[in-house]
Amino acid sequence: MTLLHSTLSAGALLLASLCASAQTVPPKVQLCVSCHGPEGRSPTPAIPHLAGQTARYLYLQLRDFQEGRRSNPMMTPMVAGLTRDDMREIGEYFAAAKPAPRTFTPDPAKARLGQAKAEETLCTMCHLGGFLGQNEVPRVAGQQFDYIVAQLTAFKARTRTNDAGTMTSVAGTLKDQDIENLAHYIAGL
Ligand code: HEC
Ligand code: HEC
Repeated sequence: MTLLHSTLSAGALLLASLCASAQTVPPKVQLCVSCHGPEGRSPTPAIPHLAGQTARYLYLQLRDFQEGRRSNPMMTPMVAGLTRDDMREIGEYFAAAKPAPRTFTPDPAKARLGQAKAEETLCTMCHLGGFLGQNEVPRVAGQQFDYIVAQLTAFKARTRTNDAGTMTSVAGTLKDQDIENLAHYIAGL
């Protein structure tokens, strides 16, 4: 009887703790992880990691997608039903997740040139050393290679302009080869 009772209460405790941890996952995140991967660690080159990104940056991007300042055929429909509170909650959830393990193998010569370019262009003045990000400036360390190339190219071509001019002016000084080198360096961090 005592054994049965303690087994039952252990079961109830386990169930309660499972429910408690499930509640910390915002319900709307279920849809996001179908593309962005478990806890925002993306398995897809064109889809960015969200895990470990700054909460403030994530919130601002979701707001920009919703208000049309940034647009993407896959992402834009995803934000239509989100409230500002959902965006904050989602931002905090992914910011607290463990960043993806490094899977990209950089070309060492290109990465060295990329590092030199990053130092020359003072990228880390805003993105911090190691590209770890702060507040509204995103973490780019360990981001998907293809995604980094796509964003730098989009800033340079001014097809992404939600950056208040910071990145479009920096990217305007970069050649395509610089962008590739920078991505080898940063994706490998
Ligand atoms: C159908 C696939 C798909 C789904 C589902 C999806 N996303 Fe995305 N998401 C993308 C793609 C692709 C991009 C890159 C867009 C670009 O290249 O500009 C992106 C970009 C983002 C970004 C910008 C990241 C950065 O580093 O700038 C955020 C934030 C984001 N998604 C959050 C979400 C959230 C929150 C959800 C769930 C509500 C979600 N996504 C659902 C495909 C998806
Ligand atoms: C003056 C500050 C500043 C400098 C210098 C700067 N950045 Fe940025 N960067 C930003 C901000 C702010 C954003 C986010 C823009 C937005 O909100 O859309 C950003 C966005 C990015 C993104 C897109 C990240 C994502 O998740 O979509 C990449 C990649 C990037 N920067 C790389 C670089 C590189 C490489 C350099 C140097 C060549 C650099 N940045 C220099 C401020 C800066």
